[in-house]
Amino acid sequence: MNRIVTLDEFIIRRQKDFPFASGELTGLLRDIGVAAKIVNREVNKAGLVSILGVAGEANASGDDVQKLDLYANEKLIDCLKNSGECCGIASEEMEDFIPIPSLAPKTSKYIVVFDPLDGSSNIDVNVSVGTIFGIYRRISDPEGLCSLEDFLQKGAQLVAAGYVLYGTSTILVYSTGRGVNGFTLDPTIGEFCLSHRDIKIPARGSHYSVNQGYYLKFDVEMRRYIDHCSDMNLGLRYIGSMVSDIHRILLKGGIFLYPNTRKYPHGKLRLVYECNPLSFIVEQAGGKAITCQLERILDMPVEQLHQRATIAIGSPDMVDEMKAFVERYSAAPAMR
Ligand code: AHG
Ligand code: MN
Ligand code: MN
Repeated sequence: MNRIVTLDEFIIRRQKDFPFASGELTGLLRDIGVAAKIVNREVNKAGLVSILGVAGEANASGDDVQKLDLYANEKLIDCLKNSGECCGIASEEMEDFIPIPSLAPKTSKYIVVFDPLDGSSNIDVNVSVGTIFGIYRRISDPEGLCSLEDFLQKGAQLVAAGYVLYGTSTILVYSTGRGVNGFTLDPTIGEFCLSHRDIKIPARGSHYSVNQGYYLKFDVEMRRYIDHCSDMNLGLRYIGSMVSDIHRILLKGGIFLYPNTRKYPHGKLRLVYECNPLSFIVEQAGGKAITCQLERILDMPVEQLHQRATIAIGSPDMVDEMKAFVERYSAAPAMR
């Protein structure tokens, strides 16, 4: 039998890979692992909502029942605030970022961005949801509070990123820029255990992933690429929580698309909380991630916390092929 390697043990072992590491990043990743277990516990209870109470109402004990995405948001904030390793947080669920004053004499140098519950419309129907996170080193003066510029760094500046998928089993996948590893939660011992070592995305996959219901709202070049996927007999898989679709693609290959539509002229997904962290992971696993306008996601300038982006992400050969379609069809205006 292989010896079990827990997330904590793995993170501490990996700290040695970084010559001047002070242990702060290690602590931060462990804290996110703890928050993930707390969120997991609540997500697992979501089906009991009719017994425990509906979000927005008071439950039997008189406490307010919260929507799960707000609950996840609060738990992550609590864990990160108490960790002492993080000087600022920005979340998809909050208008503005939260600066966290340092606990003297320590000055924390990392900021964390996250989507506390991705795919939250799936909760009521028992379909997988996830938490996505990214970690940056602050660039503002370490003496004061962190500032907006710390959060507007390009994805290429990410120090670490990851996600937790609350699926048939709960898995935490992360990268600190040296490959991607996955840890499955063993509920009997309450530990994330190394289950997917050094994940490499296949060059191609047999599925594509897009909300095909919006087909007629996509630009012609994107429609042609989707037609091509269908011509190639690729199957369609679309879960409606990006983190679940990306997890499948990471393991099995494929491409995920969220192009611009009339409703979302700049794309729907958030650059800071969704596209950048997942692009970091996918690139670390050997994949690619670009906008539907063909810029590398991780090089996109970030002007606003809640900025949206279009995205094509997944197996490298499939992203290249999509790029070739866009180049070919956008050069042929008469075809529109
Ligand atoms: P969230 O639940 O954090 O708001 O994110 C939902 C996102 C993403 O996870 C998913 O891929 C996409 O929205 C689905 O959007 P459509 O329903 O427009 O396809
Ligand atoms: Mn989301
Ligand atoms: Mn969300």
